[in-house]
Amino acid sequence: MFKGVLFDLDGVITDTAEYHYQAWKLLAKELGITIDRDFNESLKGVSREDSLKLILNHGDQTNKYTLEECARLAEKKNHYYLSTIQSIGPKDVFPGILALLQELKAHQVKIGLASASKNGPFLLEKMALTSFFDTVADPAKVPFGKPAPDIFIAAAKGLNIQPEECIGIEDSKAGIQAIIKSRALPIGVGTTKELGANIPLVTKTDQLTYDYLHNTWNSHHD
Ligand code: BG6
Ligand code: MG
Repeated sequence: MFKGVLFDLDGVITDTAEYHYQAWKLLAKELGITIDRDFNESLKGVSREDSLKLILNHGDQTNKYTLEECARLAEKKNHYYLSTIQSIGPKDVFPGILALLQELKAHQVKIGLASASKNGPFLLEKMALTSFFDTVADPAKVPFGKPAPDIFIAAAKGLNIQPEECIGIEDSKAGIQAIIKSRALPIGVGTTKELGANIPLVTKTDQLTYDYLHNTWNSHHD
């Protein structure tokens, strides 16, 4: 049986994936670059710095800015993003997530956060979820961001278990790849169009019950 669940945050626990998109869209517009929701799929799960590179590349501006200028642009995006998340609270937790966290605790399953976001701890506090998490992996301390497996490996390590003993839950392609490479069992939140047809998927977070995780685990481990 699985011993841990490693959660992504943005787009899995709450709707902040949308706020990241709106903040990037605003910054991109200022740079003369148009991004749409299809392109945004490639930004999901990707670090702030790497997202900026993808956007500049998308606008044929790959080498336009110095490292310091890029740092300032990334900071500006974060400023836009922070201004939209100040009023987030427990009411913004996606349906079913609080119940799942409670069920996992009741079954003594360990809970870890494997988010690429440096704002993860702040958001957990705002949503009053911090106490559910046995570990929060620090994205600033892992060598490579998603789609590399590092953050999921770090989160499993923080729980003192192997990634193979964990389920990872993600809404992004990069995140699903990261979970697969870490050897945890992926569950996607999204559609086959967004995440592919070869992994277990739910379209809504309220489908993420303990029973669903349990059955999914059993069907992948005989
Ligand atoms: C991920 C989001 O969780 O965190 C990305 O899916 C975001 O969109 C990344 O770029 C980094 O977040 P932050 O808050 O550190 O800029
Ligand atoms: Mg996400």
